[in-house]
Amino acid sequence: MMKSVPRWPVVAVALLALYLSMRPSKDEPQFPLDHSANMTTEENIRFYGYPYEKHLVQTEDGYILSLIRFPRRTPDKLPVLIVHGFMACSTSWVAMGPEGSLGYQLYDAGYDVWLADLRGNQYSVHHAYLERNDTKFWDFTFDEMGRFDQPAFIDYILAATGHQTLVHMGYSMGSASFFIMTSMRPEYNSKVEAHIALAPAVFMKHSETAFWKLHDSFVFLNKYLNDIQGSFVHGMMPHFFFSFCNFNFLTRKFCKHLTNNILGHSYSNQNESVYEVILHNGLTGSSLKTARHYLQLHESGGQFQRFDYGDEQLNLEHYGQPRPPHYDVSKTSAPVHIFYGATDIVCPEQDIMLLKEAVSGPTDLTLVEEPHFNHGDFFMSNEAKTALNPKVLEKVRLINELHSKSKVSVPPLGTNDAGPRVPDLKEKV
Ligand SMILES: *[C@@H]1O[C@H](CO)[C@@H](O)[C@H](O)[C@H]1NC(C)=O
Ligand SMILES: *[C@@H]1O[C@H](CO)[C@@H](O)[C@H](O)[C@H]1NC(C)=O
Ligand SMILES: *[C@@H]1O[C@H](CO)[C@@H](O)[C@H](O)[C@H]1NC(C)=O
Repeated sequence: MMKSVPRWPVVAVALLALYLSMRPSKDEPQFPLDHSANMTTEENIRFYGYPYEKHLVQTEDGYILSLIRFPRRTPDKLPVLIVHGFMACSTSWVAMGPEGSLGYQLYDAGYDVWLADLRGNQYSVHHAYLERNDTKFWDFTFDEMGRFDQPAFIDYILAATGHQTLVHMGYSMGSASFFIMTSMRPEYNSKVEAHIALAPAVFMKHSETAFWKLHDSFVFLNKYLNDIQGSFVHGMMPHFFFSFCNFNFLTRKFCKHLTNNILGHSYSNQNESVYEVILHNGLTGSSLKTARHYLQLHESGGQFQRFDYGDEQLNLEHYGQPRPPHYDVSKTSAPVHIFYGATDIVCPEQDIMLLKEAVSGPTDLTLVEEPHFNHGDFFMSNEAKTALNPKVLEKVRLINELHSKSKVSVPPLGTNDAGPRVPDLKEKV
């Protein structure tokens, strides 16, 4: 029956609808709404008048990474390192401002706070001898982030502060790459007082995010756009999504629907200012190979394993065996504190349980007390400030308390036990 209907009226109606939807409506808010949503990490920290330092850390394989610090000398408190997730960056920990973001809240609670930028995000696109327009630059996944970036950050911070250990906090891929580090370079367990795992994206067996459905497009992109894969994911894709989602209220609705299907259901993306933060900070760049590696973790039925070159010969060349080796998470002996969300479809409870069983050190689990807390809410929501951040701060306090009790404190003769006085570095700019 459809065949007998002429096509042009349908096309005309569609064009009219598109035209009407593009006209600015008085009822619809204009975008963007929030002036701070699109700030860089530095702009955000300076805007709120907090102290800011930028450090550059070079990895063993030549990447030059950005490490942002809220400087504070804390001889009696361990430094805190926070590592962002896939396609995100250090802005994750400041984007909601001092009232809502963990970076600010940890600093205000008296900690020396360091925000990592993993290779390939918008702040870490330099290399000792590779240009970012070189395909070799983008030939990495979270495997290299775990083997090289995480150890480089930790060594740098311990050297800069004189501490023996630090508190490591990783969100999603920032936690997964922590477990890659402890599996492949287990000597780093002793440099970490404890790991706080926020929605750790490690075992992807029960994960139901719509991200997996993008598999075919990633395969397509990787096949046909191989030589520009880096610039595509880094520059064009975030820009494309941002422009598309802000095009008009219909595309905005579509993007919110997509966000719910990728991250899980949440109230936070109903709020226009928060959604603005999501659009600006949800997609800031990584390599396509990283996306493909995550897809493999899911398609292998939840194996936490190294990148599969899809060819026995190539795997043999890389690993000396035809199948990619598994990461041995049981080599993680540092204490692990896991936080997870009830409506997180990327890292659902069943997969979190698999992780808890896999590590060998002491672990505990905290379900965020908020009935709708999705994968993105850990850093892009109004709910985190009440449901998550106070619990994380309390955990960091307890880790420090345990640490100072475990130290055999015999003050050297002739000194008082207060130790040298160190000036507080906090200065409002
Ligand atoms: C951020 O948004 C403001 C408007 O709210 C705009 O004036 C400014 O150019 C934007 N900055 C960037 C870097 O996009
Ligand atoms: C890559 O960028 C450098 C400068 O940043 C330039 O000299 C070189 O020609 C570029 N290479 C390609 C293949 O575009
Ligand atoms: C939306 O989020 C902003 C930023 O956190 C907050 O100030 C505002 O009160 C929220 N609006 C509503 C209606 O919840």
